[in-house]
Amino acid sequence: MDNRRRIALTGFMGVGKSSVARHLSSILRCDRLDLDAYIERNTGRTIANIINSDGEAAYRIIETENLVRALRETHARILSLGGGTWTIPGNRKLLAGDGVTTVWLESSFEHCWTNISKSRKERPLAKNKDGAHKLFDDRQSIYCLADWHFIIRPEFTSYEIAAQIAEQVFA
Ligand code: S3P
Repeated sequence: MDNRRRIALTGFMGVGKSSVARHLSSILRCDRLDLDAYIERNTGRTIANIINSDGEAAYRIIETENLVRALRETHARILSLGGGTWTIPGNRKLLAGDGVTTVWLESSFEHCWTNISKSRKERPLAKNKDGAHKLFDDRQSIYCLADWHFIIRPEFTSYEIAAQIAEQVFA
């Protein structure tokens, strides 16, 4: 694969997209962009505040605007998306249209939920376990549309996963 191409990590909340992206950018020595953090910088608001005050539909519009901006205005080669970014058809079109290679970090719901419960990040769309589990189940067939799948097991470190991605996707 042309190693100047961009790669976007997708997968459910708590799977570890941001940490894998951090290691991947250091292994490949390239810039990375975390879409949630980018949105927070550009809006001056937290994602939780946007979703809680304006609703998810309004948040999705802001998310797409920022995805467009990130693709146009930054050179980051590694993008870590929010857990819902890839589930929006227009966002999938944007990423495909830009030739971005997408990687699904796939794992069990329990693994994601353990991380969500331990994390200090507020996740308005995963307020309770049953609701989050349903969202997880509903999204599997969409995440599956990504170009690559990597199965994340709890015993793997984020570094090991990043190293696997670097080796296989950039072979
Ligand atoms: C969301 C995931 C979050 C964040 C927002 C919505 C989702 O990102 O974008 O709360 O719909 O799954 P993480 O996957 O980084 O937690």
